[in-house]
Amino acid sequence: MRIVVKLGGHAFPLKLDVGTITQYTKVFRKMWKKEHKLIVITGGGEHARIFIEAARKLGANETMCDLTGIDSTRLNARMLIAGLGDDVYPSIPRSIQEINTAFERGKIVVLGGMYPGQSTDAVAAMVSELIRASLLIKVTDADGIYTTDPKKDPTAKKLDIISYTQLLEMLIHKSVWAGEYELFDPVSIKIMDRSKIRTRVISGRRPENIERVVNGEKIGTLVISSSQTNS
Ligand code: UTP
Repeated sequence: MRIVVKLGGHAFPLKLDVGTITQYTKVFRKMWKKEHKLIVITGGGEHARIFIEAARKLGANETMCDLTGIDSTRLNARMLIAGLGDDVYPSIPRSIQEINTAFERGKIVVLGGMYPGQSTDAVAAMVSELIRASLLIKVTDADGIYTTDPKKDPTAKKLDIISYTQLLEMLIHKSVWAGEYELFDPVSIKIMDRSKIRTRVISGRRPENIERVVNGEKIGTLVISSSQTNS
């Protein structure tokens, strides 16, 4: 199966935990050894936010701030590559052509952000479209998509399934400043919807959750195109 994993920046806190990264690399290597074709996109997280805030205070424009964020995502990608040994393509692709070249090598491919004005979710969506992935797994610090922010609202309810149209409606009023994408960015939703990419949003607190999804377990929240039916 062709699988794209968006590994959120929460997996790479400023005080890096090598143990957590190793847990992820074990899962990815296991998937790859089972013949799955795998591309992992790393988010920027805390590191990106701190550096973007500093750049903004120093007078950088939003494009410069985005480029700062992209550098952070690539540093996190570098950490994951460091733990994947011979099973990984050793360079971080920076263009569509480089992604194609890396993917053709048959190893795990790891990359971060690509262009200003979007988040790594959009990269994950574009990559899923590019390689015709059967599944996009978005690994976050929450166990799925909620009706409202569960960190702020105790009445928030987890959704088992949601369409991209409904998701876009939920996110329409959210911010799109550098370093401030919440849940999904609008670019990623449009790409995933047009190519009917099935996305599962799951918690990364247990890295083995990724394997559970690949094995068909219905954990987290499934996001589908409005024209699709339930799995
Ligand atoms: P992320 O996509 O990681 O944002 O990129 P995030 O909100 O921190 O997501 P998680 O929590 O890690 O999953 C960090 C920042 O890098 C810039 C944006 O400013 C983004 O907010 N970026 C990233 C881009 O401009 N283009 C990209 O392709 C990727």
